[in-house]
Amino acid sequence: MTASPPGSGRGVMRAVTFGRTGEPADVLELARVPVPLPGPGRVRVRITLRPVNPSDLLFVRGRYGRRPEPPSPVGFEAAGVVDACGSGVGLAPGTRVAVDAPGTWQDYVVASPDDLVPLPDDVTDEAGCQLTVNPATAVLLVRELAARPGQWLVQTAGASAVARMVTRLAVSGGVRCLNVVRDDRHRDDLAALGAETVAGPPETITEQVARYTGDRGAAAVLDAVGGSAGSAAARCLSPGGRLLVYGMMSGDPLTLDPDDLVFRDIEVRGFWLPERLRRLDAPARADLTATVLDGARSGALVSPVEARYGLADFAEALRHADRPGRTGKILLTA
Ligand SMILES: NC(=O)c1ccc[n+]([C@@H]2O[C@H](COP(=O)([O-])OP(=O)(O)OC[C@H]3O[C@@H](n4cnc5c(N)ncnc54)[C@H](OP(=O)(O)O)[C@@H]3O)[C@@H](O)[C@H]2O)c1
Repeated sequence: MTASPPGSGRGVMRAVTFGRTGEPADVLELARVPVPLPGPGRVRVRITLRPVNPSDLLFVRGRYGRRPEPPSPVGFEAAGVVDACGSGVGLAPGTRVAVDAPGTWQDYVVASPDDLVPLPDDVTDEAGCQLTVNPATAVLLVRELAARPGQWLVQTAGASAVARMVTRLAVSGGVRCLNVVRDDRHRDDLAALGAETVAGPPETITEQVARYTGDRGAAAVLDAVGGSAGSAAARCLSPGGRLLVYGMMSGDPLTLDPDDLVFRDIEVRGFWLPERLRRLDAPARADLTATVLDGARSGALVSPVEARYGLADFAEALRHADRPGRTGKILLTA
């Protein structure tokens, strides 16, 4: 069943929701809820496509930076079409938009116009539904690292969508990329982006990286894994190097040797996109949006898609998203 025609907003729609935090496969369910009405200054968007992102799953597990208040819908980004507007909103119904708002694993979402990016004709729904999280993250991570041409950047979860985008940006700036992955399957893909691949057990990472960087070490490490892989990557830094932590795929803590931090002057910092966006003024945000749209057009900030599932088949989509060695995103269609 898809949503009833909204009309006055009294129809029902499908929503993937959870009543308690836990493993997504155990706690998510397809519910029927009223189609929301857009109040003054708000916009209702009919969602056409959304990705399965690691942050969606962390949120359901209660391990994300935003705490859920169950029963809660899922999903933080999407592509869709403006369907109805509250008073004072100038967006025309029918406008294609990227959505940066909670609850995108539903048929409809009500959002602020500030949470929407109108999509130009040359940006597909496939790129648009993944526009607001990973591309912006990749651009800001690369800016923050400010690695210089010839320096080495080590990334864990090195075949993720973010890591591939970072790789394209970094390589185009002359930075040398070493991407740490769980196995060798991604080697050819990453070579095509201009990155060297480091694969194998975490205890071999530091030594493998040193074969490339020699005594210099890496100027920067981007860690999205934590645990033994993230800790090993951190040990690859050169004196004065920077560790930027932006994910927690393993769910395990990082172990950082205080001797390393103190005597080798290592800088460690966390990165969370919502917090970074909050600190940007309006012109800087507009500039970031323009950069991300350019990256969507050029392909530099687009992730390939491995499979699409209907919203009602979200459980199958989750199983697929969890498979090691994916080469692209899993999307949920209407
Ligand atoms: N801090 C922020 O603001 C922010 C914003 C966006 C994304 N992120 C984070 O960025 C990371 C990547 O996101 P994405 O959307 O690009 O991911 P993605 O394309 O869905 O890919 C996930 C990657 O994680 C790897 N992975 C999964 N479990 C792992 C484990 N236990 N150990 C090592 N690697 C593991 C997978 O490796 P295989 O290829 O081996 O399967 C895959 O390459 C996530 O941690 C996400 O939360 C953070």
